[in-house]
Amino acid sequence: MNPPATLETPRLRLRLPVADDAAAIFDAYTQDSEVARYTSWSPHRSMDETRKFLDQHCEAGWKAGTVFSWLITLAEGGHAAGMIDFRLAACRAEVGYVLARRYWGHGLMTEAARVVVDWVISQPEIHRAWATVDLENPASQRVLKKVGMVREGVLRRWMVFPNLGFVPRDVWSFARIKETGTRQ
Ligand SMILES: CC(C)(COP(=O)(O)OP(=O)(O)OC[C@H]1O[C@@H](n2cnc3c(N)ncnc32)[C@H](O)[C@@H]1OP(=O)(O)O)[C@@H](O)C(=O)NCCC(=O)NCCS
Repeated sequence: MNPPATLETPRLRLRLPVADDAAAIFDAYTQDSEVARYTSWSPHRSMDETRKFLDQHCEAGWKAGTVFSWLITLAEGGHAAGMIDFRLAACRAEVGYVLARRYWGHGLMTEAARVVVDWVISQPEIHRAWATVDLENPASQRVLKKVGMVREGVLRRWMVFPNLGFVPRDVWSFARIKETGTRQ
């Protein structure tokens, strides 16, 4: 798979994150516990943690061809606003995203997720674009619906959200599948 290095929408430019983005990303959201609440990571305590994440998750993922992350920047001004990625597994692509708090509520993640999900599902080898979301995260559930995913059901005790305790929590599974026109 060869995802594009940049994706553009009317208000956003998604591009490869680089080590030099660490300070801007740390300031924008990785240190913010409210942003991290329903994610798999704990808020970063220093810019070095963000730099490590860029190196060990983002850059390593592109190199290995397993996880593809884009920095979400504002088309106007280029400010770092968040991150979106997808993880490949066989015919499936699992999407995850995060947006700096100051940008919430303006439809920006819907815009970013739509361009990524549209691209992913148009790839011949991908038949399922999907995501999991905590039952108590309605804003993200709404984003997933708006990009054409359907709520499938609850995955019980699916994952630990480190900012909400040690017990794995139930999540909704959302997915958009490639319609083949054939009965299964
Ligand atoms: C979830 C998140 C990505 C949403 O980004 P965003 O740019 O604010 O999302 P959008 O503006 O595109 O859409 C949000 C939708 O949720 C709705 N919404 C927001 N808060 C809500 C709430 N408490 N209850 C119900 N709906 C809510 C909004 O009204 C909007 O829907 P609408 O367009 O129909 O009005 C952002 O809040 C975020 O980064 N949160 C922290 C990280 C996170 O939770 N990531 C996802 C993990 S699965």
